[in-house]
Amino acid sequence: MSDLHDLCRFISRPVTNQYITQLKAYLKSGIPSTYTVEEAYNYTNGIEEEPTTTTTPLHIICQNIPTNGTEEELLVVSEMISVLFEYGAGWSFTDINNETPGCILIKRNMKDSVAFNQIVEAGVRAELILRKVNDNIEFIEASDEEEVPELVESEEQTENAQEDISQIKGNTLEVDPQSTNLDPAEHQETYLNTKLQYKDDALVTSNKDGVMMSWEHNLMQMGCNSLFKNREDDPEEEMVVLNIGFGMGIIDTMIQDKKPFKHYICEPHPDVLEKLKKDGWYQKPNVVILEGRWQDKVAELLSEGVFFNGIYYDTYSEHYSDMLELFDLIVGLLKPQGIFSFFNGLGADRQVIYEVYKKLVEIDLSNYGLQISFTDINLPTLEVWDDIKRSYWNCPVYYHPEVKFVDL
Ligand SMILES: C[S@@+](CC[C@H](N)C(=O)[O-])C[C@H]1O[C@@H](n2cnc3c(N)ncnc32)[C@H](O)[C@@H]1O
Repeated sequence: MSDLHDLCRFISRPVTNQYITQLKAYLKSGIPSTYTVEEAYNYTNGIEEEPTTTTTPLHIICQNIPTNGTEEELLVVSEMISVLFEYGAGWSFTDINNETPGCILIKRNMKDSVAFNQIVEAGVRAELILRKVNDNIEFIEASDEEEVPELVESEEQTENAQEDISQIKGNTLEVDPQSTNLDPAEHQETYLNTKLQYKDDALVTSNKDGVMMSWEHNLMQMGCNSLFKNREDDPEEEMVVLNIGFGMGIIDTMIQDKKPFKHYICEPHPDVLEKLKKDGWYQKPNVVILEGRWQDKVAELLSEGVFFNGIYYDTYSEHYSDMLELFDLIVGLLKPQGIFSFFNGLGADRQVIYEVYKKLVEIDLSNYGLQISFTDINLPTLEVWDDIKRSYWNCPVYYHPEVKFVDL
């Protein structure tokens, strides 16, 4: 522990403006806002090794915000958090318990606090900056002999960007452009060449990653109901719907039960297409199968004058950046009153990241003239991961999304 870390423990009460003054003094003197307890320990004990965990001042504050704090004290705490962020504190560093500052607040039942909100907002800002940084990466043309691309980005951008890479049902939120990891959960080409196996309650890859699991049944029902909302306004409406990603066919079976006029299914994986054939989906008169990735097949529909009352998106081994590209197509394919929905697993392996992505997706959709609303669904603790390589769901509440054009 250093003096900075001690300050963040609020040992002396009340917590007055003096705390802010002292914090600023430390930071101005050159102590980094991200100075960790581990670094302080190693420094004191002459250990040269780089620590692997990062318990930052923000962690300590979150661990010590007084539960009996007065309004004035909590204002001071909130100002201290703002100051730390101004000086470059990170929202997603993890401590020895693999917890971010936001995780600590959740554990302390402080998810509704101002501090938690500040952390989520910092996360949204960091993700937006990270995207800019990635956009600004330039690949310097390699000479004939030397084919290694060089990354160019400003130092400040690199410092401010957060490194968070989070798995969601095989979808990473961001792709590491230099990654050579050919994990099927991360790389679509590898995934499409990976054998899949249908089990009773799951569709899994040969390396035991869960592509789809039957615990999502109710979430699929919510998704299906959203796609048919237009029918509530006009029972005579000839419903044309599109589902991207067949998986176990759970939502597609529900869609069929609602007897749509036309039901498009987009799916690229050969083993899943085989299943579609075996189960007679090709014979259904109102079903159109688009064999291939949505990036190719759904984009083609733009020139064919097909418009949808409902579009659902639930793929595997894709990234949030893919979803951003999909939004380009959604605005072109959705009827004016149409509804777009998706499996909302964005960042769902860590609750605070789930909250960050809830806000981020809202911001991104608003850039397209689309508005999103969420219905909260409480989920029990899932005990379904025994035979699955990694869990992609770790949150107590599912935010079911419904997206439509903004009302003008
Ligand atoms: C999570 S499952 C879908 C589950 C489905 N919602 C259900 O109710 O069973 C994901 C599916 O998306 C498919 N997929 C992956 N990438 C895709 C892409 N680029 N375009 C279309 N489908 C894709 C996968 O092959 C897989 O069948």
